[in-house]
Amino acid sequence: MEKKKIIVGATGASGLPLLIECLKLIRRAEGFSSILLMTRSAKLTLQHESDMKASEAAGLADETFGIDEIGAGPASGSYHATGMLIVPCSMKTLAGICSGYADNLLLRAADVMLKEKRPLVLAVRESPLSAIHLRNMHELSLLPTVHIVPPMMVFYNHPRTLEEMLQQVAARLLAPFGLISKEYRCWQGLSENETEE
Ligand SMILES: Cc1cc2nc3c(=O)[nH]c(=O)nc-3n(C[C@H](O)[C@H](O)[C@H](O)COP(=O)(O)O)c2cc1C
Repeated sequence: MEKKKIIVGATGASGLPLLIECLKLIRRAEGFSSILLMTRSAKLTLQHESDMKASEAAGLADETFGIDEIGAGPASGSYHATGMLIVPCSMKTLAGICSGYADNLLLRAADVMLKEKRPLVLAVRESPLSAIHLRNMHELSLLPTVHIVPPMMVFYNHPRTLEEMLQQVAARLLAPFGLISKEYRCWQGLSENETEE
């Protein structure tokens, strides 16, 4: 059976360790493959935030294209991708998607997701958020195929390490594609003795 392709875009926002975690989770999952698109700023931020070079991150993906390869497969609706995740997603790329300004392969691939009505998950990251950032997120959130998923810390599963925290956040980003990894710890509800009167 053909694997479901997830296009994974990475931009220069903070949070590149999450990109690495997502690529690892897709690699381990049965029936899924990843196509990596990185902006120039993503490569810069990756070096700043991890020990990894862009070429090593690319090695975790099944396929990769350059950001200026505007004629590559992901630029077309006839390219069979299940959906796209942008992790992390900068406010600049968010603005580009919101306004349909597709001047690189990552933005074009996201634009294709919108026009083909395929899932587009945006791990938007900035702090604090301006009215412009919030407006762009709000506008895109009105489209039913767009998921605005800021990479928020999760505490209910009692993470013991940063790696456990990253795994849980990454797993949550991949759930909209039907990729449910063992790292994804769903909320089980509070037991009676945890609920103080
Ligand atoms: C270390 C570092 C961290 C950054 N963090 C953020 C961030 O969290 N959110 C954001 O929107 N931009 C952030 N930026 C700025 C973006 O990298 C910059 O706006 C860039 O032009 C985004 O381009 P791209 O979307 O094409 O990757 C950061 C830049 C650096 C160098």
